[in-house]
Amino acid sequence: MALWGGRFTQAADQRFKQFNDSLVFDYRLAEQDIEGSIGWSKALTAVGVLTAAEQQQLEQALQALHAVVAADPQIILQDDHEDIHSWVESKLIEKVGDLGKKLHTGRSRNDQVALDIKLWCKRQVTELQKSIRQLQHKLIATAEANQSAVMPGYTHLQRAQPVTFAHWCLAYFEMLERDYSRLADAYQRMNSCPLGCGALAGTAYPIDREQLALDLGFASATHNSLDTVSDRDHIIELLSAASLSMVHLSRFAEDLIIFNSGEANFVELSDKVTSGSSLMPQKKNPDACELIRGKTGRVVGALNGMLMTVKGLPLAYNKDMQEDKEGIFDALDTWHDCLDMATLVLDDIKVNREKTQEAALKGYSNATELADYLVAKGIPFRDSHHIVGEVVVYAIQQQKALEALSLEEFKRFNSVIEHDVYPILSLQSCLDKRCAKGGVAPQRVTEAIAAAKVRSA
Ligand code: ARG
Repeated sequence: MALWGGRFTQAADQRFKQFNDSLVFDYRLAEQDIEGSIGWSKALTAVGVLTAAEQQQLEQALQALHAVVAADPQIILQDDHEDIHSWVESKLIEKVGDLGKKLHTGRSRNDQVALDIKLWCKRQVTELQKSIRQLQHKLIATAEANQSAVMPGYTHLQRAQPVTFAHWCLAYFEMLERDYSRLADAYQRMNSCPLGCGALAGTAYPIDREQLALDLGFASATHNSLDTVSDRDHIIELLSAASLSMVHLSRFAEDLIIFNSGEANFVELSDKVTSGSSLMPQKKNPDACELIRGKTGRVVGALNGMLMTVKGLPLAYNKDMQEDKEGIFDALDTWHDCLDMATLVLDDIKVNREKTQEAALKGYSNATELADYLVAKGIPFRDSHHIVGEVVVYAIQQQKALEALSLEEFKRFNSVIEHDVYPILSLQSCLDKRCAKGGVAPQRVTEAIAAAKVRSA
């Protein structure tokens, strides 16, 4: 039976009921709904609506229900109820009879659902932060193991300057660090309790909302009842954080797909995270990475969906807001899975150092070094840039690397070039020189690894 039957003389059309009911997805809020109900029972006791004995009885019944749903949330789906709030209330009435009917005094499903989803989001933040940390730790370990693996760094997907695989790993560490802090930031703003705002105008009972907020693990109570029941900013903020982090993971995945291609051959992804072709026996496809890249679309889609749902909604609660759940559930599940999958991808990754080194030696990625060498010999950078451009054209024609040119050949472009140019052109020198903070110099990377450990502890 619906919670609101009294006003109606006709039963709802079955098709409408199915359209309207949210239990099939909001059953995931069961634990939060029960925790909120326990908090509310205490608040009602403090204002004399319930006796201490009644509160105890309600709390015990709610705790028992909590244990049931924590063990198997799917059990809820065996019943036919409008939503999780109706389900919890009806189970409570089954257990304690008429006393259960008192619990909804002064409360509305509007402040209740706002509470439930916020409690759920807060818990997700903690879980997601754990998964981010795991991936960061895996990136640090991979960096540590690959400090001497030199590979080309790219701009425009053209070989630009040599970097190391370690430096590449730490770039993603930084993106994840920002993702982590965005979650922490969003958490602060969502840490205020909606319960006690009633349907929209506030509750008619003199509830100590600040105490209630503390009981439910919030820092404080929200300020305005109209805003509170219609606010879904925390969902949108989490979807934004999820979308941006998924974009980071997608770029991570795309880099690895390129590195893993037959053309690059820089890494070999493990059998644990690749799959075969039904037709081509030789294939080993980077499906885990492709799916991370692909799933980014649905997470960003959920963000757009939610923004559009809220756009133009008049205050206060509207049923449109029920559409917040499937999107956030799916997006955060997906983000969580992708973080874990990215960690797994790095688990047994093999960096093919001969290949990365060979590629780093190609493509004239030491050309900037030659320009800097000329600068050190007193030639203005703009001129030296031009001279080196001509040297590169010549070297391409000769099909030689810069360091393979003879001194006589170099001198045709500028007489200041001497034997001391050769060590400057080595990969090691390219790396060593990038020694300002944030650069790829081995010493800086070692320090960055140590700092990353502290920052992600
Ligand atoms: N299932 C609803 C939701 O998710 C719960 C709140 C219902 N409130 C109401 N006034 N019908 O938003």
